[in-house]
Amino acid sequence: MSEQKRGMHGIWSGRWTFILAATGSAVGLGNLWKFPYITGENGGGAFVLVYLACILLAGIPVMLAEVLLGRKERMSPINTMAAMTDKTGAPKLFRGIGWMGALSGFFILSFYSVIAGWALLYVGKIAAGAFVGIDADGSGAAFGAMLADPVGLTIWHTVFMFLTGVVIARGVNKGLEATLKVLMPLLFVLMLILFGYSLTTPGFMQGFHFLFDFDFSKLSTESVVVALGHSFFTLSLGMGAIMAYGAYMPGDQSLGRTILWVGFLDTMIALVAGMIIFAIVFSNGLEPSSGPGLMFVSLPIAFGSMPGGIFFGTVFFILVSIAAWSSAISIAEPAVAWAVEKGISRVKATAGICSFAWVLGLGTVLSFNEWADYKIFGKTFFDSLDFITSNVMLPLGGLLIAIFVGWFMSSDAIKDEMKMKNETLFSIWRFVLRFISPVAIALIFINGLGLI
Ligand code: PFF
Repeated sequence: MSEQKRGMHGIWSGRWTFILAATGSAVGLGNLWKFPYITGENGGGAFVLVYLACILLAGIPVMLAEVLLGRKERMSPINTMAAMTDKTGAPKLFRGIGWMGALSGFFILSFYSVIAGWALLYVGKIAAGAFVGIDADGSGAAFGAMLADPVGLTIWHTVFMFLTGVVIARGVNKGLEATLKVLMPLLFVLMLILFGYSLTTPGFMQGFHFLFDFDFSKLSTESVVVALGHSFFTLSLGMGAIMAYGAYMPGDQSLGRTILWVGFLDTMIALVAGMIIFAIVFSNGLEPSSGPGLMFVSLPIAFGSMPGGIFFGTVFFILVSIAAWSSAISIAEPAVAWAVEKGISRVKATAGICSFAWVLGLGTVLSFNEWADYKIFGKTFFDSLDFITSNVMLPLGGLLIAIFVGWFMSSDAIKDEMKMKNETLFSIWRFVLRFISPVAIALIFINGLGLI
């Protein structure tokens, strides 16, 4: 029998709540903002194909492993990994998974909050009609003006970090569960409306081909490293966020099907976001490779010219903010849960962790203006943090998790926790986790080290 223990942090209320919470964590700026712009920077189709392969061969198998570990121990990732390392007799190194995850969380939260602040700022701008009838140049200039103002960026970074802190401090269950049940479907509907709009634009097919026609000659080592890193970032893997959420999952729920749902929804939302954004990019003569501003420059053009654009645009950026918010909460949860287990109150733990991340976030704010010319290995402060977390720390965390569950946990212990009815699927997953995922991650990783 599996342990039906409850951790000190509580349990998701319903069968679907884990899917909702995990999807809330997975679907965020990674899908709507980062996926389109890194696809643009890495040449399109071949990158998308490698990204999809990484989701299937590394992301989904590792996600299953992470949730399994969390549910088995029902504690923060740091304590879960400590307990599991002792129980299985695995080398102490594996305890590091929890610690490295908490550190990655700090780093990611710091820049995530700054970018989510952009979305908050855009809610007000679009609602005020600032983009009505705007062209590509005007939209680019508005984005540039926002980046040039460190005070404005800091204000919105502060607002977002505060909102994140408030929800974490109150516990994830109440506010978040109820809100997400309404908002996630709304996000989906709005994306469909925008998708319908993008179908009417002249650049739709060009965008489609850019995303889905692959030309491997365009693929560099860096692109492959970025695709792998993004598959972890977008599924919230390799740092304990999903492990923490797994710790709150009811014991009788089958893991395999649940995880597939989360992976499917996350991937669909990224691909649809890509189709919308590239349709608008190509219809307006924008550069697909223009970087982090891609979503913030292209979408306002569409909202500025479509009927009801002010309304749809405002709602859309509210939803981007909410998608970011539901992800940000999960980024901080592992560290907060650990502090709570240490006896610190949830409110104090949240205040401390969010304050640290806020201070670090100022580096990202400045990297778009005052510090834009200071480069570490050719990258700004923001680029360096993004690179080191997504492309080094998360894949390394994922690699260690795959090795740990694949090689140090017995098949019986896993089966007992998984409740997976299909033997064949179980064997395929275990095989991929033991052999394919670690080798793929290690190979890409080793090749990528040359890029640092
Ligand atoms: N998956 C989130 C996104 O795509 O925006 C980002 C994220 C959340 C990364 C939670 C890592 C994490 F632990």
